[in-house]
Amino acid sequence: MDLNRWSGVIAEYRERLPVGPDTPIVTLLEGGTPLLEAPALSELVGRDVYLKLEGSNPTGSFKDRGMTLAVSKALEDGATAVACASTGNTSASAAAYAARAGIAAIVILPAGMVAGGKLAQAIVHGATIVPIDGSFDDALSLVLELTATHDAALVNSINPYRIDGQQTAAWEVMDVLGESPAVHALPVGNAGNITAYWKGYTAVEAAPQMWGFQAAGAAPIVHGAIVDDPETIATAIRIGNPASWDGATAARDASGGRIEVVTDEEILDTYRFLATAEGVFCEPASAAAVAGVLKHRDALPPGPVVCTLTGHGLKDPETAVTTGQLGEPVAPRLDAVLERLEL
Ligand code: F0G
Repeated sequence: MDLNRWSGVIAEYRERLPVGPDTPIVTLLEGGTPLLEAPALSELVGRDVYLKLEGSNPTGSFKDRGMTLAVSKALEDGATAVACASTGNTSASAAAYAARAGIAAIVILPAGMVAGGKLAQAIVHGATIVPIDGSFDDALSLVLELTATHDAALVNSINPYRIDGQQTAAWEVMDVLGESPAVHALPVGNAGNITAYWKGYTAVEAAPQMWGFQAAGAAPIVHGAIVDDPETIATAIRIGNPASWDGATAARDASGGRIEVVTDEEILDTYRFLATAEGVFCEPASAAAVAGVLKHRDALPPGPVVCTLTGHGLKDPETAVTTGQLGEPVAPRLDAVLERLEL
């Protein structure tokens, strides 16, 4: 068994990606993530459902696939810094890949709205962090201005290399399933991911229905209008004016898919279901895709369904801990433990 055979998404899909012999490859061996069968979910929806576990990437989210390419190309172009706005995961990934590349990372974040694990990553990898009294959408406008006037490469998904790298996830799904799924479901925030999957699928002439899900309080694409004050427990997708809005609607329309809302309650119910019935801990935003498939199960065409779980549950320990009841500690004696266990 060769445990080192996976060499990262650029090396694995090099001939389909915009790299040349002189591109310095900045990789943490991202990609090659599990496509896990989900028996409990399959039973509920009456289809073979698979979970693409993007939380298994090096920084714990799907962002690493696009970041390896964006940072490699920035380095090739002589950049000494990268910059992004983020609800958390992009900043964690940008900080890690910039550290690996030996360049600086600047991140602009909505203050108080980034889950603890993600913030920890940006801090530990040495990013320069600017929290703002504003939303992700404000942060994105600021970083666009910043990178237009200063010497830092933009690594939000407006950067086409992010989308190019991200599409490798669709190729992996097809490589493992041996076919395109009937439906591919994912959460939609800034809409880069759904845009990238659709690009990846159509590049090899496969066409699953693309099903995207937004949180009810942050659903600009569903309602066809910018949301000024987006609100949801799923902070990763707390976005009111997605940069890749057109990409998302194109993916929906060309694939015969749908983009719908799921409530915070549906998101949290599904988050707990995945953890307790499938043994998979994802972050709340990731559960939105599965919540949407459950909600619209009657509309599923025949054939396999893939749901991308975009980030690991440990990204957001606050949500996990506050949704559980630990109780007061008991005395360190067996009788006290048995009493608590009601045994
Ligand atoms: N799921 C997670 C865990 C995310 O972090 C994001 C986006 C999404 C889903 C939505 O993906 O934006 O491509 O539609 N996070 C970005 C960030 C916005 O800054 O980390 P999208």
